[in-house]
Amino acid sequence: MSKSKVLLVSLVVAAALVASASVVMAKPIVIKFSHVVAENTPKGQMANKFKQLVDERLGGKVLVEVFPNSQLFGDNKVLEAMLLGDVQLAAPSLSKFKKYTKSLQIYDLPFLFSNMGAVEKFQQGPEGQKLLMSIKSKGLIGLGYLHNGLKQLSASSPLRVPADAKSKKFRIMSSDVLAAQFEAVGAMPLKKPFSEVFTLLQTKAIDGQENTWSNIYSKKFYEVQPYITESNHGVLDYLVITSTEFWTGLPDAIRPQIKKALDEAIAFGNKVAAQKAIADRQKIIDSKRSEVLELTAAERQQWVDAMKPVWKKFEDQIGKNYIDAAIKSN
Ligand code: SIN
Repeated sequence: MSKSKVLLVSLVVAAALVASASVVMAKPIVIKFSHVVAENTPKGQMANKFKQLVDERLGGKVLVEVFPNSQLFGDNKVLEAMLLGDVQLAAPSLSKFKKYTKSLQIYDLPFLFSNMGAVEKFQQGPEGQKLLMSIKSKGLIGLGYLHNGLKQLSASSPLRVPADAKSKKFRIMSSDVLAAQFEAVGAMPLKKPFSEVFTLLQTKAIDGQENTWSNIYSKKFYEVQPYITESNHGVLDYLVITSTEFWTGLPDAIRPQIKKALDEAIAFGNKVAAQKAIADRQKIIDSKRSEVLELTAAERQQWVDAMKPVWKKFEDQIGKNYIDAAIKSN
């Protein structure tokens, strides 16, 4: 080979080495997933499953970092942080979108859904799917719903009928519908972050709160609340969200793979939710730290009668078409 040919071949090899090195060294896309609950919950398990699937399928190209227990952001800050690009995925409770859309308030209406099957049916129907996009104009995209389950009322004294809640202080998520729901029974609602609930209950700064079996169990609320009324009066589900900027900026070859991993992780999380609604309830009963009160049909009806007028108050903000569709899903 002539000297000039040797030089040319060496240059080509060197260029190829530089190119392959830069591919190897290309920084992975980082997805920070921030949430507020414990790892052993439907959302905690879903987030970890998502990380596992992405590691297996897109390892090196995409790196998922999960931050549970409000380690990175509480729900009051996470949406702003997402719009600033400081976090890429989150799944706040549907009750925490008040600043971004009024329509999602539908999920807070008391006694709207008779069971989780009805919630699922509504979410997968046309109205539920339309609601996924109700935050789009604010720069956020709903990628899917995730279940936690139906809410129960916990308190420092037994709550059998609405009069038992009168003048009691209850922590609520940042929702005006939930505030109206407690006001409807003469109680005093206080909007507080999830991370503060245990201490507020322990120090008796508040009398009670509403939450799902898995949240009551994993955050040990049952250890500081001697009574839990099995009211199933409302739903606590999540919207898995990202920012439009992040989502549309993903490479076209990667985005569908991330969405697929997310859909699978959500399906897994939903199974965990169904199991935990039964298992965590039982663990609480077995602990004997808290007495679970089952309502008679007549007692439950009193709660329905007291709280249901809240629907009418929020009908215009939410949209009657959504409420009608939700009723039909029962
Ligand atoms: C959550 O499940 O993400 C928190 C719910 C709450 O704030 O009560």
